[in-house]
Amino acid sequence: MARTPITTQVAIMGAGPAGLMLSHLLAGQGIDSVVLEIRSRQAIQETVRAGILEHGTVNLLVDSGVSDRVLREGDRHDGIELRFNGESHRIDFKELVGESVWLYPQTDVFMDFAARREADGGDVRYSVTDTSVHDLEGKPKVWFTDADGQDFELQADFLVGADGSRSHCRRRIPEAARTQYFHEYPFAWFGILAEAPRSSEELIYANSEHGFALISQRTENVQRMYFQCDPAERAEDWDDERIWAEFRKRVNGNGFELKEGPVLEKMVLPFRSFVHAPMRHGNLFLAGDAAHTVPPTGAKGLNLAINDVKLLFEGLEYFYGSGSTALLDSYSDRALDRVWKAQHFSYWMTSMLHTPTDADDFARARQLGELRSVVSSEHGRAYLAEAYTGWPGR
Ligand code: DHB
Repeated sequence: MARTPITTQVAIMGAGPAGLMLSHLLAGQGIDSVVLEIRSRQAIQETVRAGILEHGTVNLLVDSGVSDRVLREGDRHDGIELRFNGESHRIDFKELVGESVWLYPQTDVFMDFAARREADGGDVRYSVTDTSVHDLEGKPKVWFTDADGQDFELQADFLVGADGSRSHCRRRIPEAARTQYFHEYPFAWFGILAEAPRSSEELIYANSEHGFALISQRTENVQRMYFQCDPAERAEDWDDERIWAEFRKRVNGNGFELKEGPVLEKMVLPFRSFVHAPMRHGNLFLAGDAAHTVPPTGAKGLNLAINDVKLLFEGLEYFYGSGSTALLDSYSDRALDRVWKAQHFSYWMTSMLHTPTDADDFARARQLGELRSVVSSEHGRAYLAEAYTGWPGR
């Protein structure tokens, strides 16, 4: 059967926060887009993701009219605690750099975007299948089958690959036209959602000789926590008692005791560092996890994706307003500037806070020296605070 032809200005693969944000911003300037997503809206909504938004990300959400729910239902955090050797050290973001972050899960960010695009009549098609992309160096085309089984050919001026870490778009870029950078870590995170009251008002990033743990929150009664584990670990091998015993070893002590409760969800989350450069090939532009992934320790993944989208939007808006490709041509370099800062920060936080299983006495003592050098210096604390809350310039 023949494919039904449709045309748009910007075809966007992926209806995660990056793809939906771009579609929303473009619509505000009268620029037409179609968003295609292979997952169902329900499936995206049910995936547990990370939760920290930089102040710049929050401003974009609110100022572009997506939603102000983050301000009403999110939690502003003015600092974090670094815990090591049984003691907590507060990094006071407000005092050090005058900024904050917001705890507001990515799932909620997605729901806000999806609702806003729907209310504005945006063309977002979930549960599409058999997608393939063509003519990246000319007028890009996407072949796909929609949720009702109808075949389409979507033609656009530009194609945006915001289709996540397993990006289909990225794989269509010839090897000779790109460089890929990888770094593997001998760690993964064991993540849980637990029914328990908050143990702390702020996030605790804990280093211990038994490994790293992160105490985060979701609601009054549900908490999100992680501990460093081997990437080969299997979640089903861990019952509640074994999980809590691991957390206790890593964070309890000196008067601090984690509040425990039934584990509602558990999962092993492997991670790595990855960058694909340049973030453009012909008329294909990559954004978010499709172009780069960071270890979760610095909470940078979603924030980087939103920064990409802001830059890409500026390039597209400038092109449709003036006919000039100047800002599209510099998109990759401008986006990668922040990507590499975030790669460094995430790598640094990961190596500073995780404990390799084969760490010898020197490695352990050096790591504690590094942690002390950060928390005891205003400059050290300020570097962490600036990177965590988001570098200026957006
Ligand atoms: C959360 C996840 C992170 O990777 C992080 O650095 C902080 C918080 C979270 O899921 O709450």
